[in-house]
Order: sequence, then C-alpha cells, then structure tokens
Amino acid sequence: MSGHSTVHYKNPVVRWIDTRLPIISTMQVNAMDFPTPKNLNYFWTFGGILTLFLAIQIVTGIVLAMHYTANVGLAFNSVEHIMRDVNYGWLIRYMHANGASFFFIAVYIHIFRGLYYGSYKAPRELLWMIGVVILLIMMATAFMGYVLPWGQMSFWGATVITNLFSAIPLVGPTIVEWLWGGFAVGNPTLNRFFSLHYLLPFVLAAVVFLHIWALHVPGNNNPTGVEVKSPKDTVPFHPYYTVKDGFAIAVFLIFFAAFVFYMPNYLGHTDNYIPADPLVTPPHIVPEWYFLPFYAILRAIPDKLGGVIAMFASIGVLFILPWLDTSRVKSASFRPLYRQFFWILVLVCIGLGYLGAKPPEGVYVIASRILTAYYFLHFLVILPLLGIFERTKPLPASISESVLAKSGGGGATAAAGAASAPESRG
Ligand code: HEM
Repeated sequence: MSGHSTVHYKNPVVRWIDTRLPIISTMQVNAMDFPTPKNLNYFWTFGGILTLFLAIQIVTGIVLAMHYTANVGLAFNSVEHIMRDVNYGWLIRYMHANGASFFFIAVYIHIFRGLYYGSYKAPRELLWMIGVVILLIMMATAFMGYVLPWGQMSFWGATVITNLFSAIPLVGPTIVEWLWGGFAVGNPTLNRFFSLHYLLPFVLAAVVFLHIWALHVPGNNNPTGVEVKSPKDTVPFHPYYTVKDGFAIAVFLIFFAAFVFYMPNYLGHTDNYIPADPLVTPPHIVPEWYFLPFYAILRAIPDKLGGVIAMFASIGVLFILPWLDTSRVKSASFRPLYRQFFWILVLVCIGLGYLGAKPPEGVYVIASRILTAYYFLHFLVILPLLGIFERTKPLPASISESVLAKSGGGGATAAAGAASAPESRG
C-alpha cells in the first residue's frame, strides 16, 4: 500500500501507469502473489463468496431502484410492476431477495469457520472486530430492505423492531419518533429506510476493504492454527486460490440459482404479498430466517428492555470474544473439548432459529430461555475456563509438516508433535 511501484513492468503502458499510480503492482502483490497458507480448506472460500454476493446485491439493487417508488401509496405496486412489466425484473428482484439470504448463509458459515479455527485470536482481533461491524451493517441493511416492498410483514416487522427502542429509559419514545419521522411507521419511515438501504451497502464495501486490509497484515489463519513460519508453508494466491475460490463460487451459485429459479419465495413469507395495512395485524409477525435466533433471544427475556439488551449483547459478546477465549491454541482440531462445545453452540444457534419462528408461548418460551442462557454461558463462562483446564493436542511444528503428514510423506510428525507439546498447552 506504499506510494511507490514495487514491480518493474516490461509493458511501457503498464509501467507508465504503475509508476504514477501503483494500482497494478498493488493488485499483483495483494491479490496475485500474496503468500497464502497452502493448507486452506473450502471453508476459506466463503470470504470470496461474500465479496461476490456484496457485488450481486449492489448491482441488482441499483437496477431495482430504477423502477421502485419509495412512497407508501406506490411502493407495493411498484414492486409488482418490477415483477410483471420490467424486462427480467422478476429475475433481478428474486436475485436480490434470495441474494440477501445467501449472503447471510455465507456470512454465518464464515463466522463459524472463524470460531472453529480460532481466527479471531491474536494477531487477528481487529480483523474479527471489523467483521462484527460488517455483520451489524448487513443486518441493518437487510432489515430496512425488507420494509421497502411495503407488504404486511414489511410494515409490521418495522413496527415491532422500531418499537423496541421505546424500551430505552427516558429517551426511548423520543428515539422511536425520531426513527419513524412521525408518530407511526409511515411515509417518512419508508423514505429514510430506502435512502439508508441504498447507502449502507457502499459503507459495507468500504468496511470490507478495511477487513481485507486487516487480513493482509498478518495473512490468513489456516486449519492448523499454526502461523506461517517459512515460505515453504505458503503458495501464491493466484492460481491456487483463485481456482479454488472460483470452483466454490460456481457450486454456491448452483444452489443460489436453484432457489432463484425454482423456489424463489421459499425463504420469504407469504404475508408480504399482501399490501401493508396498519389496521390489520398478522397473526404471527416473524422476521426473515436469518434474524430468527436473535428474535428468539429477544423474546426469551420476560422484560422488554432486558430482551433488547440480551439481543444486542448476543452480538456484543462477539466483539470481546478474542479476550474471552483464553486458550493459546487456535484451531479446534487440537482442542478436543472446545470442539465439542463448538458443535453444541452450532446446535444451540439452530435451535434458537427454530424457536424464533414459533409463537412465544409454553414450552417454546422455556426452551428459548434455556438456549439463550447456554449461548451466553458458552462465551462468558465455558470459553474462559476451557483455556485454563483443557488439555490440548500437540501442534504440528509447521503447516508444511502437517500437510506432509496427511499425505503420508512426513515421518517426523510424532517427534515434532512431542517437541511442540509445551507450546500446545492452553
Ligand atoms: C460482507 C461480509 C464479509 C466479507 C465480504 C468478508 C471477506 C473476507 C475475505 C475475502 C476473507 C479472506 C478469505 C477467507 O478467509 O474466507 C475474510 C477473512 C476473515 N473474515 Fe471476513 N468477510 C465478511 C464478513 C465477516 C464477518 C461478519 C466476520 C466475523 C464476525 C468475519 C471475520 C473474518 C476473519 C476472522 C477472517 C480471517 C480468517 C482466517 O484467515 O482464518 N468476516 N473475510
């Protein structure tokens, strides 16, 4: 990122540009030659998948905005107009709506990959925290986007979620009026949500740039969690990971296309094809699937303010995660106990998602309370204690050695493992 070209190009035009603005050499150093651990598995392809989906959302969103009208009297019909009259409008809209879901599928896999391999630990804490900021911006963007078609779920979802802020003592009701731009969810609300929904993806793009910059300082973590020790541990990003990422993207896009073309409304709610009606409350107000675990946490707490705090804390706890996990070993592959708790956490999050879609009554509420308590227990109690009590497995001496051992080429693994044993104690 320095101000000068670091590569000497033979092509005079390329050289002319690069000595004045070293954009070509910067790309070459950071995206082509970048030394990348040679043992990355397919879970490391989701960053690339996410970058592509951000681009898909921005491009399809810009086209939608050309035909959409952000007015409570016209919004619903303008979306129907996109679906029926605009050339390929249905495709653009279904790509955008399902693209949001696939963006979240990818980001949740990306996050759980980080949790499994300890990618949030030093020296990648800031990279992780920038990731949490990205998650928050994604959530705000998706929430506001869902309001735009001005269907029943749009209206009532916006009403329920904005109303949460009224639980804040003293200033709550004022904040809610300020969010609405009036005394109820209405035209000013729709307008500002559209404005922000258009703006935030570009903010997201800037924060993703910081995310990747922060990644390129320490370089990638890898499935062993052992840092790169010599050039033998790495391969250049291109062609090795451009090809691997390309393949993963192609497979992911097949699933995406299956939804877009064959079940475009499967992930949505039928009520959102009914125009918003402030006088008719739907029997169940449920958010999109990717918010369900958080919705379950919100409703698990009997007190409104408590629920709001718990919901925000469930993401807040991720901010301080690098300091909650006290183990010096990164990868769950060498942490037998942590590995089990990791999978329990995955099940708990899926369970919370299931409960978020259920009515808040009887056994569902009790189950939500238990799973919510466990979620926080995992981060606030189990992780700090595991670092102290867990006996970790011996780490390989290097990435190269672990790769060779797997392919049957390294006879020295046991000895090297023993040699590194003290390092591997949590
Ligand atoms: C728009 C959303 C995002 C994009 C485009 C994005 C992009 C990327 C890319 C390209 C990489 C390198 C390749 C890879 O490791 O997969 C990466 C790595 C990483 N990301 Fe993200 N990311 C996003 C969201 C997040 C979120 C929400 C978090 C965490 C809360 C996160 C945490 C990380 C971490 C810890 C790494 C380093 C992984 C490692 O090297 O082991 N990212 N990200």
